[in-house]
Amino acid sequence: MVGNEHGLDSYKAFTVEYNGAKDAVNPDTELDTHFDNSEVTLNIPLTSSVEDYDGSELYFEYKNGFKSVNMEVGRGILHSGRHLHGAMPIEEGYRHNIIIWMRSSEIRNMVCPMCNEVPVLEAVQGTAGDGFTM
Ligand SMILES: [Fe+2]
Repeated sequence: MVGNEHGLDSYKAFTVEYNGAKDAVNPDTELDTHFDNSEVTLNIPLTSSVEDYDGSELYFEYKNGFKSVNMEVGRGILHSGRHLHGAMPIEEGYRHNIIIWMRSSEIRNMVCPMCNEVPVLEAVQGTAGDGFTM
């Protein structure tokens, strides 16, 4: 979705899974501290930390250290893509979340959020441009 040159004018949506089972097909168990390739991220849990898994807390980094967030099924966490965050190791069970990266071509055309450089833009087809526009 590209066209509006102001505000959040494109997005990337995907799911993440963490599996605490020893014989899991998907062996991802945690996500190191990182920032997202987005201006704003919406993270919506599809599984419950009460019923479906233990551990795997979403955390954010602050000047004084890290802070975990309680997540409820179907209630999203909206945060800046530049806010450092990660997922603690899952101890047991299965965690599944929808992630939506919302992007602003107005912002990222001035400075790339991944390298902080002024981007050199090349024309691409469809949504392959990661939110940059020409
Ligand atoms: Fe992230």
